[in-house]
Amino acid sequence: MNRTVWLKPDNSQIVQVIDQRYLPHEVIIRDLATWQDVEVAIKDMIVRGAPLIGATAAYGVYLACLEAQKSEQPEKILELAFARLRESRPTAVNLFWALDRMKATLSEVTDLPTKTTLALNTAHAIVEEDVEVCRLIGVHGLPIVQAISERKKGEVVNILTHCNAGRLGCIEWGTATSPIYQAHKLGIPVHVWVDETRPRNQGASLTAWELSQAGIPHTVIVDNAGGHLMQHGFVDMVIVGTDRTTRTGDVANKIGTYLKALAAKDNNIPFYVALPSTTLDWTIRDGLTEIPIEERSQNEVKYIMGKAQDGSMQTVLLTPENSPASNYGFDVTPARLITGLVTERGVCEASEKGLLGLFPEKKL
Ligand code: MRU
Repeated sequence: MNRTVWLKPDNSQIVQVIDQRYLPHEVIIRDLATWQDVEVAIKDMIVRGAPLIGATAAYGVYLACLEAQKSEQPEKILELAFARLRESRPTAVNLFWALDRMKATLSEVTDLPTKTTLALNTAHAIVEEDVEVCRLIGVHGLPIVQAISERKKGEVVNILTHCNAGRLGCIEWGTATSPIYQAHKLGIPVHVWVDETRPRNQGASLTAWELSQAGIPHTVIVDNAGGHLMQHGFVDMVIVGTDRTTRTGDVANKIGTYLKALAAKDNNIPFYVALPSTTLDWTIRDGLTEIPIEERSQNEVKYIMGKAQDGSMQTVLLTPENSPASNYGFDVTPARLITGLVTERGVCEASEKGLLGLFPEKKL
């Protein structure tokens, strides 16, 4: 599989991404030629997943620099691009982290060609760093899977995950999937329960696709099945990603994550969250009141897209035409329900103390 964002091989002024809306049925590569294309790609979820949103936005700034070079009012263009990219999605903090980093980098120089080169190099750096950070999340998460495998005397380790916190949401490896890939590579038998993740089905369409490409045994389940599976001993651990984690360890992730954490707690099943430090929001403490929760169009709940028997992609209505629907994109899992946070620097308790143990430079 390609990486998830890259420059067009024969035209370095065009950014390319996989249109994730059509996976797993069609692999469509989209050209993003302007920062407005990047804005739309993030808004419409052509690309999604916290780290990938950040990386794509960084390339958006590079495209804005290219446009600014041709303009009479370059500063205005850059200002507008930063402002609009910031508004493209509200919950994943990686977006704001990447834009802040790009802004700080551009402010180091005044001439536009140098700004453009710096923007491109920084976007590339964000991508490369994400690959390494996700690999390390796998390295640190692997012992958790290994320990369960040893306890089960080599029997299959059953891991439940929600949404897509895989390579498609990042660049390579993924966050929650990284320990799974590492375990599989080592020959540890694993099986993944993949929550379908309504309404946009990132589990059913993206995680399942990734895992089948990697040859990792998995089973797609409806979102409500997890509790039943946990009660009957079919789940050994849960691992999910996150879009924003507070300095106290509260975790915002795809809607439905909280219910999985509750069910895991009730059944004494370890519940881990995997995250790069770029997903930590050190400025906030209370996830429930301080993390902005995205609300998307009701049509994502009312309609569903899939492949029809004739092979065409079709969208069908699920609900009565007039029934209103609500569509909260994320929920917050309080730190007390989380067994541990798996980061590029190691595994820690989901608490301010635990996080500061790994990131002492963030002490106030
Ligand atoms: O709405 P999405 O698909 O962008 O939501 C993605 C998630 O919730 C992921 O779990 C999260 O971004 C982590 S991706 C490594």
